[in-house]
Amino acid sequence: MVGLITFDQVQKVFPAQDEEHPSVEALHEITAQIEPGEFVTLIGPSGSGKTTLLRAIAGLDLPTQGEIKLDDEQITKPSRKVGFVFQEATLYPWLTVFENIAFGLRINKEHDRLSQVQEYVDLVGLTGFEHSYPHNLSGGMQQRVNIARALINEPEVLLLDEPFGALDAFTRSKMQQELLDIWEKRKITMVMVTHDVEEAVFLSHRIFAMTPRPAKIQQIIEDDLPRPRRRGSPEFIQIKEQVLETFSFYAKGI
Ligand SMILES: Nc1ncnc2c1ncn2[C@@H]1O[C@H](COP(=O)(O)OP(=O)(O)OP(=O)(O)O)[C@@H](O)[C@H]1O
Ligand SMILES: [Mg+2]
Repeated sequence: MVGLITFDQVQKVFPAQDEEHPSVEALHEITAQIEPGEFVTLIGPSGSGKTTLLRAIAGLDLPTQGEIKLDDEQITKPSRKVGFVFQEATLYPWLTVFENIAFGLRINKEHDRLSQVQEYVDLVGLTGFEHSYPHNLSGGMQQRVNIARALINEPEVLLLDEPFGALDAFTRSKMQQELLDIWEKRKITMVMVTHDVEEAVFLSHRIFAMTPRPAKIQQIIEDDLPRPRRRGSPEFIQIKEQVLETFSFYAKGI
């Protein structure tokens, strides 16, 4: 099995820049394991360190102490084994859907490349929009392009940083189902940051509730409801309440 992520005493301190910007501890002693093929969501207060943790898994910004391993190998730099759908917009406006998806692909033979890009266009439901430009796409469609681009190198792990945060509720729930369909087809490890408790309960095997900065894992909530999950079912609501309960301690302090 591939896609096993292990965190061992992970800490991240951003150094001080000047007197007005002192050092910031973003991650504090994170020790956990994410299983191959597991879908984990990270949920926690704004500014706690969730993006920092994803960037560390991606090898973009390394821990200052401790280590993160992928399949028993320490992560020290970005690799094609880990795909990333970023929090902010990352499509190139001057490239078409097809070209944006092809951009990250590391294959030289032209004909392989074309058929592989088309496979991912189809996988994310953008068949027929290959030649459209990002400004002609809805927010949901733009995120599909981002997901296809992150998947095209066939990573073992897909990281998603609030991928549906800017979408309306209807599009959002549609995209959640589509992401689950992709997970069903590929069975790769997925780690997703969200602020939406319902989204976390709908998607995850486990939910990591993070503390305010510096981020630690406050609690891990198991979510083994059978799929398809019904958002209104008593079991679903019970897990939602369990997650909210984790954060009530902080809410009272505000
Ligand atoms: N490159 C950096 N240099 C200095 N400080 C940073 C840097 N990146 C992040 N931080 C700080 O680390 C803390 C955690 O940031 P991070 O972006 O990981 O939070 P987050 O949980 O993703 O927040 P949000 O939910 O708002 O996206 C914040 O206080 C942020 O200002
Ligand atoms: Mg963030």
